[in-house]
Amino acid sequence: MSYIVFARKWRPKDFESVLGQGHVVTTLKNAISQSRVAHAYLFSGPRGVGKTTTARIFAMGLNCKNGPTSTPCGNCDSCKETANGTNLDVIEIDGASNRGIDEVRTLRENIKFSPSQGKFKVYIIDEVHMLTEEAFNALLKTLEEPPSHVVFIFATTRPYKVPPTILSRCQRFDFKRLSIDEIAGKLKDIAASEKLEIQEEALYTVARAAEGSMRDAESMLDQLVSFCGRKIDLDSATSILGMIGQGVLFDFTDKVITKDTAGILKLVDQVISGGKDIPQFLNSLIGHFRNLLITKVGEDPQSLIDLPKESVERISAQASSFTSESLLYILSVLANAQDAVRRAVSQRIPLELAAIRLTRREDLSSLSSILNRLLEIEKRLESKGSPHAAQPHVQDPHREDKKNPEKNLNLLSSPDKTEEQLAVGVGVKNPLDVSFERICEIWPILLRGITSKKMSVAIFLQAAQPLKLDEKVLTIAFARESRFNKEALEANGNRRVIEDALNEILSQELRIDFKVVEELEKKVSAEEPLYEEYKEETHEVIKSALDIFGGNLKKKGPA
Ligand SMILES: Nc1ncnc2c1ncn2[C@@H]1O[C@H](COP(=O)(O)OP(=O)(O)OP(=O)(O)O)[C@@H](O)[C@H]1O
Ligand SMILES: [Mg+2]
Ligand SMILES: [Zn+2]
Repeated sequence: MSYIVFARKWRPKDFESVLGQGHVVTTLKNAISQSRVAHAYLFSGPRGVGKTTTARIFAMGLNCKNGPTSTPCGNCDSCKETANGTNLDVIEIDGASNRGIDEVRTLRENIKFSPSQGKFKVYIIDEVHMLTEEAFNALLKTLEEPPSHVVFIFATTRPYKVPPTILSRCQRFDFKRLSIDEIAGKLKDIAASEKLEIQEEALYTVARAAEGSMRDAESMLDQLVSFCGRKIDLDSATSILGMIGQGVLFDFTDKVITKDTAGILKLVDQVISGGKDIPQFLNSLIGHFRNLLITKVGEDPQSLIDLPKESVERISAQASSFTSESLLYILSVLANAQDAVRRAVSQRIPLELAAIRLTRREDLSSLSSILNRLLEIEKRLESKGSPHAAQPHVQDPHREDKKNPEKNLNLLSSPDKTEEQLAVGVGVKNPLDVSFERICEIWPILLRGITSKKMSVAIFLQAAQPLKLDEKVLTIAFARESRFNKEALEANGNRRVIEDALNEILSQELRIDFKVVEELEKKVSAEEPLYEEYKEETHEVIKSALDIFGGNLKKKGPA
């Protein structure tokens, strides 16, 4: 008989066994018993907390032979088929592997037909945020006039990536992380039925390490059994989980610091051959780098990091080897790897690629120093009094507002505009005057302006090119290999930073859309000679900063 992992074997089959999501379960049960089932639901929340499980139970309740019922019998053909994924009326689509318009078109074709046996056709679309824009648009049409027998359940770990047009048509439920007690409770039940002898303390160690994900807890328990057999004590639990936990994370980070590519690949190999779960390892790495970042920027890391004091001290020590920009970069690479691991056939490759990337990363710490140097050099050039040099098209932020670098951008629309500034459209207050060409012209200024507001945003944006301007929506394109930059910009109000900067330069409220394209067309050229008139002065530092930013600092004469 084939072995079924705990997480699957112990998947709840009725609402009562779904732990920790009381608010969701109650509302869904009421919806069925009061015949107020909506056409579309969105289940959002972290990994392994019961989104897919709850979607299946809901579908079971709708189509149970006694149904619709909030207490599906679990024994009729329909219930059994739903539980094992063979029910023709319960269609599960993985948004990560069926991202495109074709899949959604097929869905729209089939949706017209009534359910084959049940009362409802239930579409469960997992990882819905991964769908392409076109697929979303097609889906939206379906959502606008859904046939009465259709229920959509979308599940996602990243609700902020689902377009608002879709969100607004869904009833939304936020799933929560489970508490340590809830997790430990279920682990106890599993241990009892599986006849495991596991120390209470060991069990709690697992529950804590799972960080709220029941699936993670169950797969850790699986690993413990495969290492220790049916008898598990605290020591072996900590040493095995410890490999996933602290020690190996510090090692990994040391190799990132020393940029030891060979060493990190060896470590990754040990981690994998030690039987560790790759998604979970990535998760722990992300947690670790998050802690490093918090130590870097936070006032009182101890209160924000849920670890023993010694660990926090070690974390502080490691954090001092990074700038916060490089930590942000590392986090985005890891998050990207995590996404790739879910989609890829091989889990190993995305992890290895991430490890290579991290050890070969550009030295972001020097990037900010390059920019500072650049500004300084520019200032020096200005004071030399060449007619052009006297009127830089971007003024030196230090000159105007030394104390408040946040305000630097305002300079760009300061009243004493030079003709030159007008020529590139800086601060021009005619709202009708914003064209795509103008945006291309001010692009280097935009990048540098953002640099002074939020360095990391500028860094992520430098891989991009403006693509098109429709009405008031500016689309910014990224090549596939810079997808993680796009993701980073979508998070944490970063989009807003760019929008505000554009607004400050153009006096125009534009919205920003990001897009990944097959081929990145260069709209902003770096071809023009840079600082032609000061060639002999062109410092290495400027060159590298320009390389990095793809910028164009050529002085533009009056038009
Ligand atoms: N709330 C819960 N109560 C009991 N068991 C749970 C719960 N959440 C998850 N599990 C266990 O974890 C396994 C995976 O859960 P599920 O597939 O529903 O997670 P998910 O939220 O859809 O995660 P993902 O975002 O990774 O798809 C289940 O088979 C079950 O064993
Ligand atoms: Mg799921
Ligand atoms: Zn049934």
